[in-house]
Amino acid sequence: MQKTKIKADKLNLYYGDNHALHDIQLQIESNSIAALIGPSGCGKSTFLRTLNRMNDLIDSVRITGDVIVDGQHIYNSDADVVSLRKRVGMVFQRPNPFPMSIFDNIAYGPRIHGTKKKAVLDEIVERSLVQAALWDEVKDRLNKSALGLSGGQQQRLCIARLLAVEPEVLLMDEPTSALDPISTLKVEELTQTLKDRYTIIIVTHNMQQAARISDMTSFFLNGILVETDKTDKIFTNPNDQRTEDYITGRFG
Ligand SMILES: Nc1ncnc2c1ncn2[C@@H]1O[C@H](COP(=O)(O)OP(=O)(O)O)[C@@H](O)[C@H]1O
Ligand SMILES: [Mg+2]
Repeated sequence: MQKTKIKADKLNLYYGDNHALHDIQLQIESNSIAALIGPSGCGKSTFLRTLNRMNDLIDSVRITGDVIVDGQHIYNSDADVVSLRKRVGMVFQRPNPFPMSIFDNIAYGPRIHGTKKKAVLDEIVERSLVQAALWDEVKDRLNKSALGLSGGQQQRLCIARLLAVEPEVLLMDEPTSALDPISTLKVEELTQTLKDRYTIIIVTHNMQQAARISDMTSFFLNGILVETDKTDKIFTNPNDQRTEDYITGRFG
């Protein structure tokens, strides 16, 4: 039986007067891939950031409603935001490796969380890079700068960096939009192997990508969640005319 990992319940978000998310209602199952699609500016990134309280960092933001992760109300005043951001990690559009070695990039999070022993860090670095399908390409250059990697390798490094702190949910905001087709394919394949252990929510402008990799797809328009359904259904026979218009390229 599938278990609900994340639930957004009547979630509203305002940037000052800009009402950017309207009554979002969405449930995401454990070990599934959820795709978020919709035209630019419709609130996909904003929604993604509500799931690990990254919007807290923006002053004008006001939120009503609820986000529940594993049964915990993450906007409760006693919620532990540091532990939340460890459990719900994020990968961005442009890979953002730290200007340090490949090894230190991956060891960064575990070190902050208190792991000091070299042998343990070695193990975490190898495991994370293997999981991110990057180990074979970098195992002989772990002490070289991460900035010397290709864009596609840098993005997998950023995924490995997340995996090193043992998250449960991976938020990916257009993770392949800055990558070439081969790197894109590698990241897509990676999502399929990661889904056994993680819950993945991916924003993509690439509808073929959403169709290829996701189980469920949600279509956003002007801050409204128009429709969520099984990915095949959304791309073959959506319920809402606006979804149909978007996926057939009539706008966006
Ligand atoms: N940091 C921010 N401060 C103020 N408004 C923002 C901020 N980020 C996004 N917005 C506004 O919120 C709306 C949704 O943006 P966004 O979530 O980035 O959309 P998408 O990711 O779908 O392109 C837009 O109107 C955008 O201008
Ligand atoms: Mg965005």
